[in-house]
Amino acid sequence: MPDWLYRPDAPVRRIRSMDGVEIRLQPNGVPLYLQVVEGFEREIAGGRLASGERLPAERDLARALGISRTTAVNAYRELEARGLVRRHVGRGTYVCAVPESTGAPFAWRGKVSLGALRTDDPALRSLARSAGDPDVISFAAAVAARECFPVDAFREITDRVLTRHGARALGLGPTEGHPVLRRAIAAREKLHPEQVLVLNGAQQGLDLIARCLLDPGDAIILDRPGYLGAIQTFRAAGAVMVGWDVETADFAALEDLLIRYRPKLIYTTPTYQNPTGQTMPAPARRELLEIASRYRVPVVEDDPYRELGFSGRVMPSLLQLDHQGLVIHVGTFSKTLAGGLRIGWLTASEAIVDQLALIKQHSDVASATLEQLVVAEFLTGGRFDRHLAALRREHERRYQAMTAAVAHQCEPGEIDFRPVDGGMYLWCGYRAPIDARDLLGLARAEGVVFVNGESFYPDIAGRRQFRLAFSSVPVERIDEGIAKLAELLREVSRAQPARLEASGRVR
Ligand SMILES: Cc1ncc(COP(=O)(O)O)c(C=O)c1O
Repeated sequence: MPDWLYRPDAPVRRIRSMDGVEIRLQPNGVPLYLQVVEGFEREIAGGRLASGERLPAERDLARALGISRTTAVNAYRELEARGLVRRHVGRGTYVCAVPESTGAPFAWRGKVSLGALRTDDPALRSLARSAGDPDVISFAAAVAARECFPVDAFREITDRVLTRHGARALGLGPTEGHPVLRRAIAAREKLHPEQVLVLNGAQQGLDLIARCLLDPGDAIILDRPGYLGAIQTFRAAGAVMVGWDVETADFAALEDLLIRYRPKLIYTTPTYQNPTGQTMPAPARRELLEIASRYRVPVVEDDPYRELGFSGRVMPSLLQLDHQGLVIHVGTFSKTLAGGLRIGWLTASEAIVDQLALIKQHSDVASATLEQLVVAEFLTGGRFDRHLAALRREHERRYQAMTAAVAHQCEPGEIDFRPVDGGMYLWCGYRAPIDARDLLGLARAEGVVFVNGESFYPDIAGRRQFRLAFSSVPVERIDEGIAKLAELLREVSRAQPARLEASGRVR
């Protein structure tokens, strides 16, 4: 905003229905509607008006600010053109974005579709960015121990595949995936190859499922807390998100939600869940399926971690326990081999696999053929299982190092977590009345990152929680990273409780 427009001494107008929001209007020759626009822009940029918040009706705004109705209408029109608010006929005017900081001459925000505007959380993108930075100790990146990746075997198999297939190994393959990989996955899961759809990562599967099964306004039940990529994808599809508390896993509560919301699907990660690391026991899995089948609701089982139990014991998946064909199972090699391969898969009844493959063509005609052939050979030649055994041992070592570091660096009870026996995560809560986002800001400056709890909730919660991934950081650096976090946690708790509690930001 230009300096001439904002005068801190100008009289403040408050809007009764919007706590803490202040609009300053002054007789300085600038059209009043623009002053209102700039005022809202300032409140949005300062975080006092969040995306999704409803603005007063034009009539009420005019009355609250002592301006004419036409000025209020013009102000909202301009805010809409700048892409900061959206008007929904009959429902009101809502904040939908933060102002562009780039000063770009063309207002792209105003052109972006309503659906796309629901995508405003950059958490996943920053996760991907920090994962590759060698100067950062990343407890955020949910990736397999890179040091275990079987580089030599990968090179040898790639050579062999190229020798055998020549340039065909680089040709376009079918949308459903290369038949060789579909067969290899199907054999492992004891299914037919036609039930397998190869994906560019599990995330693509979630997007396809959302596009295939959901219309805007449909309800879905999902883990609370749960995987942030799923929250973002389902939110972008316009779904009404109904969280089911995975830590209490109360089936009577689930049934109530099914009756009340009539959801289109249940989404869950039952094994070494992201972010809690917890696993649903076999009887609970059967109960979940029984309820879903009674209410005829499909279950999406997002299952990237099932083979990552430290002991090597592998739980039966919901898909394996399902006799009704209501489960869509999503898997990935991102967590067991390498995220950079971008190979995932989805298994379900043939009819739905076929429909999903047609939708996949909208964004993706095929998946990387060479990599599919190499991964298929990893699976069938037994290398994959040997690699998994080594990976599980290394992840367990990192888990032990992290829990030991927390015990060593923190006061008793300062950080709590429930032990896990596999997966990649420690889901932490802390006593100090501070906000994990503030802690993250400071930690990032010190070269340590994690993911704050809020990102894992479909609603507003998790401010005193955070997720630490133990799998990607070598044992030697874990203590150093946790020591920094513990020190910052103490520092922030000494400095901030008064400010945060006064502003009502801590829940
Ligand atoms: C539960 C869950 N599903 C899906 C994904 C995405 O996996 P991919 O890298 O295969 O897209 C992740 C990644 O963290 C995840 O935790």
